[in-house]
Amino acid sequence: MKGCRVSRFCGGGWFLFLQKAFADGDARASAECFAGESQANRKYLAFARQAESEGNRQVAKVFLAAAAAEAVHAHAHMRAIGAVKSTKENLQEAINGESFEFQQMYPGYISEAHREGHKAALVSFQNAMAVEQVHHSLYIEALNVLGSGRDMRKRARVGPPDNPARPSEQLPGRIT
Ligand SMILES: [Fe+2]
Ligand SMILES: [Fe+2]
Repeated sequence: MKGCRVSRFCGGGWFLFLQKAFADGDARASAECFAGESQANRKYLAFARQAESEGNRQVAKVFLAAAAAEAVHAHAHMRAIGAVKSTKENLQEAINGESFEFQQMYPGYISEAHREGHKAALVSFQNAMAVEQVHHSLYIEALNVLGSGRDMRKRARVGPPDNPARPSEQLPGRIT
């Protein structure tokens, strides 16, 4: 889609976060580096999956190792700009980001994909938008029960049934 101006910022409300960070000149470089490293992480995981599917285990391992390093870099940049706060604040940030995505960002891009007749982008945007609403609800529930001693309702799954995350895409769990 030639018109997808913010697609590289899609996900987790990062577009909103960048808007805030850009207001602060010192944070801009770190915010841009966080965006770049985050993209590199996901890109390399996708490349690792492709290498695995072609039977290139060694190449897949190289991509996975690099992806893990990029995640460490991304988290370091994120902390440098103070983007990791208390859990209460993080939940509110997540709620704001998810609501932006399913209320503004994806509806706009879905319309654009319709206009351009870009079916793959349309399906991708529609699938993501549906899941962002689930994330939004989960974060609101988590915020409501935070510190209350109550548990969240048990759910069978939180991801889309047609697109389960592969184990290799759940890496890495380490935040530095
Ligand atoms: Fe890096
Ligand atoms: Fe989401």
